[in-house]
Amino acid sequence: MKTIIRFALLIAFASIFTHCGTSKPKKSIENLKTAFNSESTASSKYSKFAQVALTEGFDTIAKLFDAVSKSENIHAFNHGKALEKLGVNVGIAEIGSFEVKTTIENLQTAINGETYEMNTMYTGFIKTAEEEKAPVAGKSFTWAIDAEKKHLNYFRQAAAAVALGNETGLPVDWLVCPTCGNTIQFTDVKDLCDFCLTKKENFIGFTEEQQ
Ligand SMILES: [Fe+2]
Ligand SMILES: [Fe+2]
Repeated sequence: MKTIIRFALLIAFASIFTHCGTSKPKKSIENLKTAFNSESTASSKYSKFAQVALTEGFDTIAKLFDAVSKSENIHAFNHGKALEKLGVNVGIAEIGSFEVKTTIENLQTAINGETYEMNTMYTGFIKTAEEEKAPVAGKSFTWAIDAEKKHLNYFRQAAAAVALGNETGLPVDWLVCPTCGNTIQFTDVKDLCDFCLTKKENFIGFTEEQQ
């Protein structure tokens, strides 16, 4: 009788391990790691771009880069949390190499990066997360892509202003949702975040008064 019970337990454990092994969304885990490193690099890059913008006298663009840097940092954090939920300890981010040039060149770099993330990287990652039925990863990627779309528009707007030699009229104050990284012009703020419903009282401010 004991032998039968032992055998039954063995089968049960084997089935649990087999199930765990096949249920992990392997591609999405790799995509989360890639996105974690990519967002961490973008955050670091925009922080450097903000410093350059300040030294060149583009104060409003410096503020934009600082706000977006924070947003990317939140995306990286969310991807790390998603990995944790999937049983993976992501560790320390690998910051990729990047060049720091003049503000107009840095804006073009930012536009290229946001375009790639929006049209290629996150579009593919979201599709894979759906195929693998990995909603934890899908949610983190979706929050990121929604913010990247806005970042792209903001950077385009800033690049156009610099090309005209006039940054007057660009938004001065920014808010960043601490939950999803949504980046909002101060004048457009609503009571709740459009993407995750966080209350505006919790948003992180990047305002002229801070300088
Ligand atoms: Fe972005
Ligand atoms: Fe949000």
